[in-house]
Amino acid sequence: MTHHHDHAGGNPDLLPVRAVEPAPRHPLDPLTGAEIDRAREILVAAGLLTETVRVPMLLPDEYDRAELAAWTPGDEIDRRVDVTLMDAATGEVTEAIVSLTRGEVVATREHRAGEAPYGQPQYLFEEYERAAQIVKDSPEWQAAMTRRGLADRMELAFCGPLAPGFVGRENEVGRRVIRSLTFLRDSEGDSPWAHPVEGLIVHIDLVTNEVIGIEDEGDVPVPAGSGMYTPDATGPARETLKPIEITQPEGPSFHVDGHHVQWENWSLRVDFNAREGLVLHDVRFDDRPVLARASVPEMVVPYGDTSNTRFWISYFDAGEYLLGKNANHLELGCDCLGVIRYFDGYVADDHGHAVKIPNVVCMHEEDYGVLWKHTEPGPIGSHVRRSRRLVVSYFSTIGNYDYGFFWYFYLDGSIQVEAKATGIVFVGAGIPGSENRHAPEIAPGVFAPVHQHLFSARLDVAIDGTDNRLVEIDAARIPMGEDNPFGNAFTWTATTLRTEQEAQRIADTSVARVWEVQSASRTNYIDKPTAYHLIPEPTALLMADPASSVAARAAFATKHLWATAYDRDERWPAGRYPNAHQGGAGLPAYTADDRSIDGEDIVLWHTFGLTHIPRPEDWPIMPVDYAGFWFKPYGFSDVNPAMNLPESSQAHAVRAGSGAADGGCGQGDACTCGH
Ligand code: CO
Repeated sequence: MTHHHDHAGGNPDLLPVRAVEPAPRHPLDPLTGAEIDRAREILVAAGLLTETVRVPMLLPDEYDRAELAAWTPGDEIDRRVDVTLMDAATGEVTEAIVSLTRGEVVATREHRAGEAPYGQPQYLFEEYERAAQIVKDSPEWQAAMTRRGLADRMELAFCGPLAPGFVGRENEVGRRVIRSLTFLRDSEGDSPWAHPVEGLIVHIDLVTNEVIGIEDEGDVPVPAGSGMYTPDATGPARETLKPIEITQPEGPSFHVDGHHVQWENWSLRVDFNAREGLVLHDVRFDDRPVLARASVPEMVVPYGDTSNTRFWISYFDAGEYLLGKNANHLELGCDCLGVIRYFDGYVADDHGHAVKIPNVVCMHEEDYGVLWKHTEPGPIGSHVRRSRRLVVSYFSTIGNYDYGFFWYFYLDGSIQVEAKATGIVFVGAGIPGSENRHAPEIAPGVFAPVHQHLFSARLDVAIDGTDNRLVEIDAARIPMGEDNPFGNAFTWTATTLRTEQEAQRIADTSVARVWEVQSASRTNYIDKPTAYHLIPEPTALLMADPASSVAARAAFATKHLWATAYDRDERWPAGRYPNAHQGGAGLPAYTADDRSIDGEDIVLWHTFGLTHIPRPEDWPIMPVDYAGFWFKPYGFSDVNPAMNLPESSQAHAVRAGSGAADGGCGQGDACTCGH
């Protein structure tokens, strides 16, 4: 959430573009480095990108459906860039659409960040450095540190910059504000997150570059325990784990052509941008459309603490900080195992220059245990087929937290989406042994506020085409009586959600609620609409009060499901600029007209996530916590589409136990599966 960059220039994973990359061949290919640099040249030539102007966000401009449908291979592609420009000297914000093909700026629009409903552009990496310097240079902060007896700790202190939320203070509203919390470090190489200086909050205006307020109260001793996690801190690594090697002697089963991927029944296009990170397009099963576009374009991390230090914390990691710009360079053999195909990503730096994030998206196959199995006495015997999944993933580090976004494609037509939350829990300080009903003590004097990680997935569904229908399916009890004489009977209800307002729904595991997306025109061989089910996992919704600021700003997180009529410009669950926005943007605005979604081109938005009451085991680094959902075929295929999988042969399988060395299936006793 807060950002910590070790050197000027920001994300150490961002490298200058060096190699010459291939030109895009398909409209849905990600922006190349050359294209980002070309966009910059065009903006400079147009007089829009001057000395003081910065580039908070640069994305591919979205194509509309008709434009995409009209395109055929070999056609010229009108490649366009959607950029937000901010004059750092004045705070003025301009949005521009640049046509790379035509070499010109084709549209501009002013964004008035200083007027209601406000909304500041995404933070620049250079602003984190600048904010820290402003704090350290300020007499107010120096006086506070001195008063706390920390004068000799100032040089090594880390000033963590955080988005301010929207708290309505007169001297903040409409201004480009960042807050700074202070953490101590024992040395240059120390992790700062374990040593919070409680109750010291500095408010900074990033346009005037001045401290506009400071709070210094409730000081308690700074926790001194180590938060380090490097091998020299954790001690010698255990030596009991034997290696596990994943080998695919004949290579992977996927085929990649540019950014198009074919794997068994699945095909899809892999895309990446600075805001959403991984984006998948044109996801098909058996060459039939399932998803036109899919991503996790927003998330919010609201804190449930009343203290002045934290009540305003509600990070929008995509909309305020940009998940893609902060994405990791993935290391071969560490994040993913097996035969791995990486994709590079390109984003714009603060000045609009292209930077390459090598190996930003990882794709590989994983064995996933049993897919189907039955043992029948007699001649049929035992049959088992193994499950395998195609994994497409990336990781983003936003300050202390790390988020992985994993899309899994299974042989039976299922899709699973999983967010992985790890990294360092955000903590404050307190008197050891004291009770805080908003923040459990997870290490001596280290108190971790309760919070949530609520993600919004945007699924531009296309079940057998763009004409789709949304139906809520509940299991339904039947009162004992004439219709249910023995009391055992139950049934299900199917309720069509016909408009955007009707489609704002809450998950209910007590009735096994799922949302069915049907084709409005195609049927299967039992004459029912072909369909997929969105299967939510139990997730608390936003815990903040409906009247709170964060409930207005993160309205998407107050429902598990939203659905909208497709509009290429509606891509941001909390709006384009959630930073310091007063609320109401994104899904509440998109659905205000209550458009029909019955048999239309529809988009689903699904909230999923974690409600985190931290524990000692989350310290000093939190084991991965998981949240996600499934998207499963329901009558999309006529039978189990994985019936024809081969029986697996396990030439290398070894039976553990008595004498591991000779515990294999043995000569003449191959470990065949089945029968
Ligand atoms: Co957490």
